[in-house]
Amino acid sequence: MPRGLFITLEGLDGSGKTTQIKRLAAWMGKRGLPVVQTRQPGGTATGDRIREILLDARSGALAPMAEMALMFADRAQAIAEVILPALDSGKIVLCDRFTDSTEAYQGGGRELGSDAVLALHRLICGDLQPDLTLLLLPSFAASLSRARRRNHRFEEQTGKNEGRFEEEQDAFFLRVWQKYREIAAREPERVVLIEGDLTIDDVHEQIVEAVAERLVLADQSA
Ligand code: TYD
Repeated sequence: MPRGLFITLEGLDGSGKTTQIKRLAAWMGKRGLPVVQTRQPGGTATGDRIREILLDARSGALAPMAEMALMFADRAQAIAEVILPALDSGKIVLCDRFTDSTEAYQGGGRELGSDAVLALHRLICGDLQPDLTLLLLPSFAASLSRARRRNHRFEEQTGKNEGRFEEEQDAFFLRVWQKYREIAAREPERVVLIEGDLTIDDVHEQIVEAVAERLVLADQSA
């Protein structure tokens, strides 16, 4: 059986990723494609517990190295429990964030550097890489204000503040943003960069175009 297709979505908080993943999953569902949707951190029972530690505003004193290690602990569990079994059975895995997030947020934002992240990736994830990464980068200003609004709404509704990252300073997000651009420039074959303040429909169209192309390639090599 041919290996499935591993697709990741990346971008800053407030980039519209969640909306686009839902639309892409619906597009695939309509075509009868077998999709497994997941997210990081989270996506497994253990991962959801790790996610709570990572995102809770009360984890303020978490050391950057501990943060990075927890991101990879979550990822190791998701790979074993969800991602590899799905790919091995020929399914499409649609994953909201993967190692590019760690490189952008911990490598760039927390200034741990790309080398440390990529070394841990090799150790923990082996040679598992997405076949396609859709990187959404609307303008920096638009992403920031959307992320902050969203976190306040979530807190009002649930009483929980999951916004440890959303509360960071603009300089942190600028470093994340720059690291994402660096990754896109380094790996243009894997990473499709969707930039600018486009409408939801326009972004969806670009995503579908990139995905359809990969599906044809995967069919040809099967
Ligand atoms: P989440 O609520 O899932 O945000 P989003 O909808 O924007 O994906 O929160 C995930 C947060 O965790 C987000 O701020 C990015 C951060 N993160 C890292 O810092 N490193 C990582 O490796 C991953 C996967 C996420």
